[in-house]
Amino acid sequence: MNDQAAVVKALLPVLGDTLDEATIQKLIEVPKTSNLGDYAFPVFTLAKTYRKAPQLIAKELVEKIDASQFEKIQAAGPYINFFLDKPQFSHDLLHEILTTADHYGDADLGKKGNVPIDMSSPNIAKPISMGHLRSTVIGNAIANILRKVGYNPIKINHLGDWGTQFGKLIVGYKKWGSEEAVKADPITNLLKYYVRFHQEDQENPELDDEAREWFRKLEAGDDEATKLWSWFREVSLKSFMKIYDMLGITFDSYNGEAFYNDKMAEVVQLLEDKNLLKESQGAEIVDLSAYDLNPALIKKSDGATLYITRDLAAAIYRKRTYDFVQSVYVVGNEQRDHFKQLKAVLKEMGFAWSDQIHHVPFGLITQDGKKLSTRQGRVILLEKVLNDAVDLARQEIDKKNPDLPNKEAVAKDVGIGAVIFHDLKNDRLNNFDFNLEEVVRFEGETGPYVQYTNARAQSILRKAGATELDAAADYTITDASAWEVLKALGNFPQMVVRASKEYEPSVIAKYALHLAKTFNKYYANTKVLVDDAEKPARLALVASVSQVLVQSLSLLGVNAPKEM
Ligand code: ARG
Repeated sequence: MNDQAAVVKALLPVLGDTLDEATIQKLIEVPKTSNLGDYAFPVFTLAKTYRKAPQLIAKELVEKIDASQFEKIQAAGPYINFFLDKPQFSHDLLHEILTTADHYGDADLGKKGNVPIDMSSPNIAKPISMGHLRSTVIGNAIANILRKVGYNPIKINHLGDWGTQFGKLIVGYKKWGSEEAVKADPITNLLKYYVRFHQEDQENPELDDEAREWFRKLEAGDDEATKLWSWFREVSLKSFMKIYDMLGITFDSYNGEAFYNDKMAEVVQLLEDKNLLKESQGAEIVDLSAYDLNPALIKKSDGATLYITRDLAAAIYRKRTYDFVQSVYVVGNEQRDHFKQLKAVLKEMGFAWSDQIHHVPFGLITQDGKKLSTRQGRVILLEKVLNDAVDLARQEIDKKNPDLPNKEAVAKDVGIGAVIFHDLKNDRLNNFDFNLEEVVRFEGETGPYVQYTNARAQSILRKAGATELDAAADYTITDASAWEVLKALGNFPQMVVRASKEYEPSVIAKYALHLAKTFNKYYANTKVLVDDAEKPARLALVASVSQVLVQSLSLLGVNAPKEM
């Protein structure tokens, strides 16, 4: 049981009729100073029901509450202050953490319900952008967090592998490209054709007609068009896989936009049956003015289907295939209106489950405060970022710990972990500036700092020969300086639940930083290895900190080397 749960449990029997568990939990506060207790419960809300002054209510309730789990419980004006029984708390908590191990903080909110997570989803023949990196690591962390609270996440890479751009790409390839060039460096060269197409079609508008014609052929299943398309897709995916491998991230499905080609006729039919399609300048749209949204463009005047049509088909397919309890889309904030439209159209179609669709948006990565832009040459190449991060980590390790075994593997864990952690530590909607040196620092609010704290904890345990801890031992800690660390450890389960409800990995990243900081402060002031009665308990505390740090990092998709 964690600390706050003890407060709820004490209050519930005396308040049972007036307030439910969730409300009590929400009302509990953490006092600003510790002389007011570890937790406080304000009774203002009860004044109406009890028809008494809050001060009086607080006094009367204190008499009734079972205080056996606490050091003391006091009424202070309109508050009830709870002082936890610290020695008892430390013993119970450390036992719980060490015996539940990786399962500490598990919950069953999800009841094994399926949650498809649409994540990463880069576009074929273009480089993976920093935005796609964000979607990949945020989506992966959300999947880990949801699994921990009992859902069954399904990671779907909704590849951008269809659309009019393939007509342009085919034209560009046939005019300026070669098989050898694409084989040698697929993304760079395919992108080149695409960019050149856009330069030349300014003067030469026939190019656009040709591109439209090739895309039409592709949609009609023409042999040559299909062969080129599937080749472009294959070589692009191969180069994306290199990056996913570096990040250690896998997917359950690569069904991209093209997968829904044969599933769109049904969508259009359903829209027609419900009388939702309107003609507008030759195109077919769904009017969404009732939602204060622009119309959803379902079919262009030339019959070509669009991004949102494919997303409608995908949403319906996912509901049928997974019978999801939530359907999550980790996609940049600039697509906010697209997902509002998607939900609105599904609602209009009569699908009550449209409410289970959640767009999880995130902010931009900037450089020197400026938005990145492929056209203006402000691009960050992801593979290079990851390689540079590993190089920086290697240099840092060479300075700090030149004899470290497995140096290469550790440099990889630290460098890649730093990039992932940096992305996840900010509220996901915030924009942030990318500066590699800052990302890989070993001090400050970084991934390496958390990893380093864990490695330090591991080294203490090694020194003490305490790799196996005795589950039956007494883990009572009376030393007040351990209190902040214990409280932080006890908060982990709540943090996991909060992160899962808010789809917000930064809750876990900030928590890990806080735990690491409190532990380092404790360690600087305490002789952990001194031989006295509380030594086993202190080692249990160190082991618990390491375990919870490793868990937090692993929820974020970051490895934690034992030495660094
Ligand atoms: N490929 C799109 C892009 O790069 C993102 C796709 C997001 N997922 C979706 N189901 N619409 O902008």
